[in-house]
Amino acid sequence: MNYAEAEKMLKKCGQEHVLAFWKKLNKTERAALLEQIAKIEPKSLAYCREALEKGAEVPDSSKGKAPKVAVLKGKKLAEAVAAGEKELKAGRVAALLVAGGQGSRLGYDGPKGCFSIGPVTGAPLFYFHARKILARTIRYGATIPFYVMTSEANNEATVKCFEENDYFGLNPKDVFFFTQGMWPGMTQDGKIILDKPGHVFMSPDGHGGLLAALKRSGALADMKKRGIKSVFFFQVDNPLVEIADPAFIGYHVMNKSEYSLKLCAKREPKEKVGMPMQFGKTFRMVEYTEMTDEQCNRKGKDGKLYFLYGSPAIHVFDRAFLDREASQPMPIHLAFKKIPVVDAKGNVSKPSEPNGYKFEKFIFDVLPKAKVASFLAFEQKEEFSPVKNAEGGDSPASCRADMQAKWRRWFAEVGVTVPESMPIEIDPAYAVDSSDLKSIGICLGAE
Ligand code: UTP
Repeated sequence: MNYAEAEKMLKKCGQEHVLAFWKKLNKTERAALLEQIAKIEPKSLAYCREALEKGAEVPDSSKGKAPKVAVLKGKKLAEAVAAGEKELKAGRVAALLVAGGQGSRLGYDGPKGCFSIGPVTGAPLFYFHARKILARTIRYGATIPFYVMTSEANNEATVKCFEENDYFGLNPKDVFFFTQGMWPGMTQDGKIILDKPGHVFMSPDGHGGLLAALKRSGALADMKKRGIKSVFFFQVDNPLVEIADPAFIGYHVMNKSEYSLKLCAKREPKEKVGMPMQFGKTFRMVEYTEMTDEQCNRKGKDGKLYFLYGSPAIHVFDRAFLDREASQPMPIHLAFKKIPVVDAKGNVSKPSEPNGYKFEKFIFDVLPKAKVASFLAFEQKEEFSPVKNAEGGDSPASCRADMQAKWRRWFAEVGVTVPESMPIEIDPAYAVDSSDLKSIGICLGAE
């Protein structure tokens, strides 16, 4: 894009102030600004402005009902596992990781996936994800291609982390990195914010940016070419996640589901998790901020919370469903933030109060579009312990404790007691679940 093209596009969108400092910029700064402008789609700008005009609408969730959530046990569990294993052995399952977030609460300077979490080795979050994929690939004798969504801000460092670690044992041909989109920040009156004289303030377009990015990057086409049917979606901050869990894959496939969600019981009525609710024939994710006190505390006939199950963002998608939704517009969510801004003279100031909006799309907003959606319960302590905050709950310390508690339970199953004072870590490629340890248990017993 050259200056004239940029000016024309910006004028059409009422954003010509973006070029206000053009004359003061050097050659490199000009080129960088033009590159930024080229990536701004007028259509996306219009969506963002429309979202601003509408404001943060809170949808009415009062008529929502709790969805039917399956708890698999005994024969039903065995059936689902068998169906999932069939898919895995046939190579019809992919893993899809969203790792484009900024991790601002953790305050770690780098991609969150590079954050050291291994209680003994200090291995990064990416290690645990990749090694689980490797383990299932070996167990089922078929590749599980791994699609990793990054952002412009962390793509290079993410790829470097994989390269430096030999892809954690995975075949690089089966790891596909792609970047999500970035959107400019705006003031309340819909003007793009410059955070430096020659620089637009941009932020990742949310994990919902996944759909457009999958299409744009060719990742969806790659999945199709490989014959993928089910796509296991997970977030970078949860090393407990059971990636491509056969029971979940099998349950999804048996139900002919387009979008399946794993759900876990809330730890307290007002836990900050999204709740899928049923509205007539469709489902929608209701954010905790949208729920009334009555809804949070409502009890069912069994005396348990009526809205018991929340979503930790562990999903399985039908690949064809992702394909269908990838070109559809999605709702836009607003976040009012403190954004550095230049004044008319080109001086940068850092506000002490929120002054501008970031825009995001959320992946679960496609839930109402699913012709069939399924919900499967799991136990939180087994599969969910995210690293969100630097300290306290959902922190590296709580996550490491939960990882070790899980491994201790595995050892206990094979008759080995690991004292709490002894740090432990298991390479997922060595044992991806307790059944792998059971064979080792026999060896230990024989010694
Ligand atoms: P979070 O909502 O926890 O956001 O992301 P975050 O950016 O990681 O952390 P904070 O809120 O700044 O502290 C949940 C998952 O969605 C991914 C994250 O990488 C994480 O796996 N995500 C989030 C994206 O891939 N892109 C985004 O734009 C936002």
